[in-house]
Amino acid sequence: MKELVEKLYSTGDLSDDELKSLIECNDTETAEFLTEKADCVRRKYYGNKVFLRGLIEISSYCKNNCLYCGIRRGNKNAQRYRLSREEILSCCENGYSLGFRTFVMQGGEDSFFTDEFMCGIISEIKNKYPDCAVTLSLGERSKNSYKLMKNAGADRYLLRHETADEELYKKLHPSEMILQNRKNCLYNLKKLGYQVGTGFMVGVPFQTTENIVSDLRFMQELKPQMIGIGPFIPHSDTDFKNFPHGSLELVLRILGILRLMFPKVLLPATTALGTISPVGRELGLKTGCNVVMPNLSPVAVRKKYDLYDNKICTGEESAECRGCLERRINSVGYVISQERGDSLEL
Ligand code: SAM
Ligand code: FES
Repeated sequence: MKELVEKLYSTGDLSDDELKSLIECNDTETAEFLTEKADCVRRKYYGNKVFLRGLIEISSYCKNNCLYCGIRRGNKNAQRYRLSREEILSCCENGYSLGFRTFVMQGGEDSFFTDEFMCGIISEIKNKYPDCAVTLSLGERSKNSYKLMKNAGADRYLLRHETADEELYKKLHPSEMILQNRKNCLYNLKKLGYQVGTGFMVGVPFQTTENIVSDLRFMQELKPQMIGIGPFIPHSDTDFKNFPHGSLELVLRILGILRLMFPKVLLPATTALGTISPVGRELGLKTGCNVVMPNLSPVAVRKKYDLYDNKICTGEESAECRGCLERRINSVGYVISQERGDSLEL
C-alpha cells in the first residue's frame, strides 16, 4: 500500500481500483505514511499556516428536507431562528477584532434572505472591512442570484455536492431535490468567478467506497478551490438517527488522499471532525488540512443550528473559541495566519 501512497504523491492520481484499495486500507503504517506525505505537500504550498474562517450561522430555517440534517423542514422539534442585519454585523465586528479576515454566512435555504437583503449586507460588510473576504453558504439559488451577490462583493461560495452518485443522492434526499441542479449551481458559481468550495460527508448511510471514488472524480472535473469533508453524524430527530457516525480513520485517510490529489486546495479541519474525536481537528491538520472555521454566531443561537447531535463549540464565546483553536493549532506545530487566505492558483 505504501507504493500507492508514493504513486499518488508523485503523480497526483491513481486508477479507480487503486483509489478504492487505499480508501479501504486500514493499516496503521500506511495511515502514518499518508499523513507524512500529505503534511509534506501542505507545507510545500502553505508552510505551517492555518487560515481562519469565522462562521456566522444566519438561519436555522430551511425549505429542504435532506434526510440526514437536523434543521430539515420536517423536523418539528428543531428550534428556528434567523439573525438580523444588526446581529450579523455585530458578529463581523467581533470577528474582525479577533483577527478574522473571512466571514462565512451560512444557513438553511430560507426565503427571508432575499437577494436584496443579501446584497445589502454583503456590500455593507465589504465597505466596512475591505481587507476581508465574504463567503456564502446558502444552498442552491438561481444563477442570477449568485450573480447579484457576486456583484455586491461576495468572494467565495461553499456548496457541498453531498454525493456525486445519482442513486445515493436519491437515498439521502427527497425526490424534489436533484443532483444535477446542485452540480449546475457549482458550475454556475465557478463561471461567475467565485472561489468555490464543495465536498461531502464521510460514512453517510448507504455510502460505498465506489461512491467516494465518484466524489473524487467529480471534484477533479469541477476543480474547486476548497473541499470540505467531515464525518456524517446522526441527529436524533431524523430517520438516520440509528446509523453510526463516519469513522475518524476513514475521514483522515480521505483527507490525506485529497491533499495529494489536490495539492493546493484549501482543506478545512471541520467541526464535525472535532465532534467525533476530541483531537479530530488536530489530526486533520496533521493530515493536510490548512483551514479551521470557528463559530462566530451569537452564543444564544448556537445550539439551535443543530445539524447533528453533540455538536461542539455551542457554549463558548467567539473569543474563547478563537483562543482554544489557537492552542490546538499550535500544539500540532502550525500557526494561525492573519491573511484572508485565498486559494493559490490551481
Ligand atoms: N443550506 C446550505 C447548503 O445546503 O449547502 C448550507 C447549510 S448545510 C446544513 C451545511 C452542510 O452540513 C451540508 O452540506 C451537509 O454536508 C452538512 N450536514 C448536514 N447534516 C449533517 C450531519 N448529520 N452530519 C454531518 N454533516 C451534516
Ligand atoms: Fe470552539 Fe474549542 S474551538 S471551544
